[in-house]
Amino acid sequence: MTTFLSGIQPSGRPHLGNYFGALRQHVAATLEPGTHFYFIADYHALTTSEGPETLRESVRDVAVTYLALGLDPERACLFRQSDVPEVTELAWLLACVTGMGLLERAHSYKDKLAHGIKPSVGLFTYPILMAADILAYDSDLVPVGKDQVQHVEMAQDMAGYFNGKYGEVFHRPECRLPAVERFQKVPGLDGQKMSKSYGNAVWIFESGKGLAKAVGRIPTDSRPPEEPKDPASVLLMDFLALFLEPEELADWQRRVREGGAGAPGYGHLKQRLVAAMDEHFAPARARRDELLADPAEVDRILARGAEKARARAAAVTERARRACGLR
Ligand code: TYM
Repeated sequence: MTTFLSGIQPSGRPHLGNYFGALRQHVAATLEPGTHFYFIADYHALTTSEGPETLRESVRDVAVTYLALGLDPERACLFRQSDVPEVTELAWLLACVTGMGLLERAHSYKDKLAHGIKPSVGLFTYPILMAADILAYDSDLVPVGKDQVQHVEMAQDMAGYFNGKYGEVFHRPECRLPAVERFQKVPGLDGQKMSKSYGNAVWIFESGKGLAKAVGRIPTDSRPPEEPKDPASVLLMDFLALFLEPEELADWQRRVREGGAGAPGYGHLKQRLVAAMDEHFAPARARRDELLADPAEVDRILARGAEKARARAAAVTERARRACGLR
């Protein structure tokens, strides 16, 4: 039976990149036969913590978001990473077979340094904890966005190092990217990858003035509407492509490309984007409001998820302990 596993950090509110790259494919995957584990990576979020209250609120926010988007807790195990402390022990076992060079090559670490973030040891060893998350559940498939592919490959490497030294303990996991390429790396308001840490993210449940303001920030240029343009040169079109049906998208692209009197101005495209986004998330936004009113139910779901997840991780951890001589 296939085991699916993925995680999302509770650092800031889930944004469009998280949704198209991960959350949406997680919910869809639960319809496939298999065992499904989805967790809120609160240990990882400590690498950029804004304090205990914010962390607790963000954990709840991610849980509520998953449930509002339709994750069925009967089909998938939804839990908090820190409710399975075995992963920190596994991370140590993996750290002891992993060379510094592997971590030094991590794109996401180098990216954070380039954005001026002062690294802690935790940030540097982040991929080891992530490998432990993946390997602790004998995961077969890890549905993620493109930015996490290297981390999953590192988990494959670490499984290989450990198995090479101590025998077949860990399963080799594989990545699964969204089938539609534009969902694999969603752009942010500035055209770079959308990311919580780059200040270019749009919260999926943004609405009203907040949504209009966020869309208003998408940069445009001074070319007039009548001027024919390559739709690929208009960032707004990339955002519209996330939400519109193919026929409608093709029509807007044609009008932008042809220019002339029938071509839309940037303001017009922004209005369409606001309406499309608002409509897309309206049902989930309503469910979110209901879930926020019942925090005890969300706690119960997380506790049940943790119990099941921990049983699986404890068995795998015991296997690893024995293999390396700790038992
Ligand atoms: P995180 O919290 O940064 O992102 C969660 C998921 O969202 C995807 N994603 C994107 N997809 C497309 N376009 C974007 N702009 C975009 N931004 C984010 C990410 O690829 C990810 O799938 N290290 C992980 C959390 C983690 C994890 C794990 C994931 C911890 N342990 C084990 C899988 C398995 C992270 O920081 O994701």
